[in-house]
Parts: sequence; structure tokens; C-alpha cells
Amino acid sequence: MSGWRLREDYAKRVRRTADALRGEGFSARMGVVLGSGLGSFADELEATVEKAFGEIEGFLAPSVKAHSGRLVQGRLPGRSSEILVLQGRLHPYEGHAMEEILFPVATMLELGVELLVLTNAAGGADPDARPGNLVSLTGLMDFHGDALRGLVLPPDDLPVELALRAATHNGPFDRELAMRMVEAGAREGIAVATGSYVSLWGPSYETPREIGFYRRIGAAAIGMSTGPEATFAHRLGCKVVGVSCITNVAREVGVEEVSHEEVIAQGAASEEAFARLLRAFVIDVG
Ligand code: HPA
Repeated sequence: MSGWRLREDYAKRVRRTADALRGEGFSARMGVVLGSGLGSFADELEATVEKAFGEIEGFLAPSVKAHSGRLVQGRLPGRSSEILVLQGRLHPYEGHAMEEILFPVATMLELGVELLVLTNAAGGADPDARPGNLVSLTGLMDFHGDALRGLVLPPDDLPVELALRAATHNGPFDRELAMRMVEAGAREGIAVATGSYVSLWGPSYETPREIGFYRRIGAAAIGMSTGPEATFAHRLGCKVVGVSCITNVAREVGVEEVSHEEVIAQGAASEEAFARLLRAFVIDVG
């Protein structure tokens, strides 16, 4: 255990929701969060239980059309271990508070998830990136600031400065598992790069100047999710893996406007390979 804990009233809310879901059969050691346009992995599962976000106490329903908002638990055909999948997630740009955005992830952890795979659609910061490229995340630059302040509390027996350092030491993504994602891709004939993710508030896509900045600080993928979820889960002792599907090239020069529709369409075009990659990873580590 990491020793970090949730604020008591929030922990109670999470426990109440998780207890109800457990009573319906929801419980698993591996969890997956599927980002924009990447939901089809959930359809491959032989579902044992599933529920729309709107029917789960404490979950807000996503407002972005592409996020269908279901909690699904099931197994891959022929496999025994169950996986808990969030098909869709909430974003700050939809106007939600961070506590509400993190609530589904908190619930998954309470339901026993010890390994969490976070996926997202992202802009490619490398000029050579192409839509459809996949990046297994090894680093995080999170521009949400201290989004977890007052929600995840440091261990009582550590001075706060030490606790803060311990929490941020290597970043939230598990290196060994990140490499296993790359290997899973190789087995499937799917190229998976490694790189760092820049996590932003949005709601607008970045200006060319901003893209230049993020590229220079070493970003491979730029997006509006994943950072707070990754840090949150990691701080609470969960292993975290992140995968970005590059839906558009974020250009510093020769600018093309990015549209949400385009991001969703490219996500859909990459969905099959993406689902195959996740399947190979889950079979390996599950
Ligand atoms: N920027 C931020 N978020 C994104 C992008 C982008 O270019 N593409 C998909 N999500």
C-alpha cells in the first residue's frame, strides 16, 4: 500500500457505489479506460455485467457524444480473468469537477483494480507522427497543477514534503508494463512507440506556438485526459499503463485546424488495431 488515502467523505461515497456494484458482480484486478473513439475493445468482451454510467450512483454521464459511458465487466473469449472496462470517461472541458472525473477510476480501484490501462486519443507532437500511430506512455507532463489536492491525502506518518517527493518520483507509468505493451504490439505486427504525454485542461486544441513548446519539452502525445487519472491511481498504489492513439498531427507550422469530428473519425479508423493491441497485452499480463 502507498499510504496515501482518499478524503474521508469522498472515500465513503466511493465505497457506497463500489459496494452496490460488487453486489451486482463487479470486481476485477485489471481495469481499462477507453478513450474517445476507442470503445470497441469493450465489445470484444464476453460481458458478465454491464451498466450505463447514468444508472450508477455517483457517476455523471459523459456529455461528449463519442463517449458512450458504460461500465462493462467481462472476459476475453477463452480467458478466465475478468476485466473491468470504463467505456468513455469525463473531461474537465465538459465542465466537471476533478472529483467527479476521478470518481469512476476511484470506484474501479475500490472494486479491486490493481493494474489500470488508460487509453486516449491524442495529438502527435512529433512532426513525423501519423494518424493511427500508437504510443505506450513512459512519461507524463501534467499541466493540471495540483489537481488532487485535498482529495488524495498524504500518509500521516510522513512529513508532507517527503510524501510529495515520493508521490512524484518516477511519474505514474510503470516502465516494465509500458515495454510489455510495446512487445504485445510487436507480436501482433502493430508498431508501438514509447513517449511522454502532455495532459492539458483544454477545451481548445493547442495553438501552433503551444505545440512548439510541448514538442520542445519532449511531448510525443498531447491530450486532455489521462494525467490526473494516472497520478491518482498510482498514488493509491495501482500500477498504471497509458496508451495514446495519435488521431492528428499537432503542427507547429503548416497548421491545419483540428476538429473533434476528425479526432473521433481517426479514433474509429484505428479502433481495430487498438483493440487487437489491448487484447494481446491483456492476454500477456492478465
Ligand atoms: N490536442 C489535444 N487533445 C487532443 C488532440 C490534440 O491535437 N487530438 C486528440 N485529442
